[in-house]
Amino acid sequence: MTTTAIAPTNIAILKYWGKNPRWESLLIPTKSSISFTAEGLFTRTTVTALEAAGGLRFSLNGKEMGPSTREHQYVQEFLGKVGSFFPFMEGYSFRIASENNFPTSAGFASSASGFAALVKALSGEMDGLRGLGEAKLSALARLGSGSAARSMPSAGGVVKWRRGMDFGKGGRAGVRPTAAAEKRALFSSYAESLFPPGHWPGLSMIYVRVEAGQKKVKSRAGMKESVETNPLYRPWVDYEEGVMLDRMVRAIAGRDFGSFGEMTMRASNNLHQICLGTYPPIFYLNQASLAIMDAVHEMNAGRIKAAYTFDAGPNAVVFAQEGDRDEVADRIRSIAGRDSLILSRPGPGARFSDDHLELVG
Ligand code: PMV
Repeated sequence: MTTTAIAPTNIAILKYWGKNPRWESLLIPTKSSISFTAEGLFTRTTVTALEAAGGLRFSLNGKEMGPSTREHQYVQEFLGKVGSFFPFMEGYSFRIASENNFPTSAGFASSASGFAALVKALSGEMDGLRGLGEAKLSALARLGSGSAARSMPSAGGVVKWRRGMDFGKGGRAGVRPTAAAEKRALFSSYAESLFPPGHWPGLSMIYVRVEAGQKKVKSRAGMKESVETNPLYRPWVDYEEGVMLDRMVRAIAGRDFGSFGEMTMRASNNLHQICLGTYPPIFYLNQASLAIMDAVHEMNAGRIKAAYTFDAGPNAVVFAQEGDRDEVADRIRSIAGRDSLILSRPGPGARFSDDHLELVG
């Protein structure tokens, strides 16, 4: 059989940055996070499973990725992790083709859409995964890339990824957990849709590309260093989990752009402050990012019209409401360049598609 799925990228407004050290290989986060699912920016993935153990042929954007490539290794490692919980997977070989409709590695979270699309496609292709509900599929997508958990819920819109376990809790340091405890931990942390895409009519998400290319410090390595070396890491987790999470949900429920916007910018700045307080420090923002922040605060004098957020790279996503969108977009374009913007809005999550990609091999 052959199965194809599409999954969107997502942009976090309360960020994930760090794993619970007791469950690092399961990517249990230290804190919950909230994101918007992006319409029109997605990965399409086609999967065929064959009954023969262990092989993998993988193509990305029409190009075969050989076993020595990083991309192939990520997918192989991911299938191995899923196989450790679902051993029937080990009896299969996989042919996988994946394509992004936006620039890969431009800092637009292609790993989030990529792993969510892969899990969704696998769940249609493998009898043994078909019965799993969306929460479990979200938890499995997390094993590829944490933020992929939030691209999974099919309702999309505003999505919350629950941390599942308190930071530092769950098992004892140095004691190997039982298989049952591992499975409980695996499924304890997952994402779910809080508000559908149509909840906030006229809300735009403006993706701003200020720099293409690979991240300087990969998020996986960077966040581990933050957990281990930043003495303000735990206060950040406690503050965002204990204070900001509920406030953010209330602001979105009430479509209160002022509170939502301020908290979104603060949460982005908090992430980059955590990075700067890591030792040695990690910088993701560049001059253009700082210029965008400045311009947004200038436009916001008097009333909040725009809100920026930055992930592990210099590219921005700027939120604006309908009446302000053109002014905000023009201003950002004057900083980042004419072809730097992609206009998006909240959209649906992962879904199946009949439009298959060609497989290699
Ligand atoms: O899932 P990863 O390893 O791509 O980590 C992503 C972390 C941030 O994008 C910086 C924040 C987030 O919550 O998406």
